[in-house]
Amino acid sequence: MEYKFLTKELQEKIKAIRNKYLVKEQAIIPSLHLIQETYRDIPQEAVEELSKFLEIPLADIEGIVSFYDMFRFRKNAKNHIRLCRNLPCHLGGSRKLLKMLEKLTGAEAGGHSPDGKWYIELVECIGSCAIAPSFLINYDLYDGSKIKSEEDLKKILEKYK
Ligand code: FES
Repeated sequence: MEYKFLTKELQEKIKAIRNKYLVKEQAIIPSLHLIQETYRDIPQEAVEELSKFLEIPLADIEGIVSFYDMFRFRKNAKNHIRLCRNLPCHLGGSRKLLKMLEKLTGAEAGGHSPDGKWYIELVECIGSCAIAPSFLINYDLYDGSKIKSEEDLKKILEKYK
């Protein structure tokens, strides 16, 4: 099988990890760390490839990826929005921002938009509390406090269409 994310180098490393353990499931977490170190997050396709490579059911690996906050899971969507839900951002208005994001993208928190263009994820602190409520679109960081209206947000979202 052709792998897009599990390069030959990653395959070698994952194989070495796999060989260290008696039970192949123990290789899941270290392998996911490796993927995240390589790509900064964990694309859904990489999870599918890891499932094939380790011959472990996809649902088992997806369950681990979404359970641990330390993993940044990137669902298949053209644009992935990560909105911080921790206290400073909450106090800064992240709920209001979420409502606007949901309305303008058609996606709900934890889900895709019907056209598959957007995925909204609520995340823990992304280290940008000074600009609370902060959010990321793909790898671009935004200061939610500067968004005063739907029009402001629309202008940002239009860049990603
Ligand atoms: S609390 Fe939201 S970025 Fe830190």
